[in-house]
Amino acid sequence: MSDIQHDPQEWDALPRMAWITGAGKGIGRALAERLAGLGWTVYASARTLNDLNDLAAATDELSGEVRPLPLDINDRDACARAVAHISNDGQPLGLVVLNAGTHTPTPAGEFDAEVVGGLISTNLTGTVNCLAPAMKMLMQQGRGHIAVVASLAGYRGLPRAAAYSASKAGLIAMAEALYPELYRSGVGISVINPGFVKTPLTDKNTFEMPCLIEVDEAVDAIIKGLARQKFEIAFPTRFVMIMRLLRALPYALYFKLTGKILNR
Ligand SMILES: NC(=O)c1ccc[n+]([C@@H]2O[C@H](COP(=O)([O-])OP(=O)(O)OC[C@H]3O[C@@H](n4cnc5c(N)ncnc54)[C@H](OP(=O)(O)O)[C@@H]3O)[C@@H](O)[C@H]2O)c1
Repeated sequence: MSDIQHDPQEWDALPRMAWITGAGKGIGRALAERLAGLGWTVYASARTLNDLNDLAAATDELSGEVRPLPLDINDRDACARAVAHISNDGQPLGLVVLNAGTHTPTPAGEFDAEVVGGLISTNLTGTVNCLAPAMKMLMQQGRGHIAVVASLAGYRGLPRAAAYSASKAGLIAMAEALYPELYRSGVGISVINPGFVKTPLTDKNTFEMPCLIEVDEAVDAIIKGLARQKFEIAFPTRFVMIMRLLRALPYALYFKLTGKILNR
């Protein structure tokens, strides 16, 4: 147990050691780089060791340090072992960013149980595989902060994205449900809901992405949101407003709009 009575909302008081999943590319990688630049020690996980080694080399000159910790979040035992490895470090873990995730379109005409189940499994169950041991560790420490990367696509079921929207809505609900109990244990939790961010994931999209932002802008918003003790860190503002408006629409209007999207 920690000897410090930590307010779970105090970013500056967090021990400067983080674990980021999905840190080999995109948002996770950029966040790992930023934290290492701010002096944090970052355990960086993804399946591709080369990406993690490349990240460690790229951050070599910074004041912090990136430590590769390869992992498939679908492997529950491996997730438990990863947290045990971090715990054996002997230093308190301040921040856990459960960012690993993927997307593939799942239109009704090609609604394949293996594809849909696989996506939900990685985005939701895979995150849970990491969340369970990490949460236990932070609760034992009596301090620390967890950030779960969901998506604005979790606000409502989006056309051709049934699996993705379902997985991200599940993550948002899970973080909401855990918040009060974690808070009592001295542990904070946030949900990060990005709009479109330019990464290897969205580079595969063939449609026009409204309000697309660069990854550094996403990292700015994440760091700012964490420092401001926000539960929901959603960005970019214009797209958040649009998605909040869509979320508030009654079904009749919402389905008119999504029907128009399909006709494009
Ligand atoms: N980019 C966006 O516009 C956007 C918008 C909203 C939400 N998000 C969410 O933000 C997160 C990051 O997205 P991104 O755009 O940065 O994606 P990305 O560029 O594809 O990077 C994803 C990272 O996650 C890792 N990963 C994927 N599956 C994994 C698994 N089973 N186990 C461990 N690591 C795994 C990948 O590495 P390996 O393949 O080597 O494992 C990679 O390092 C995702 O959860 C995504 O849903 C993104």
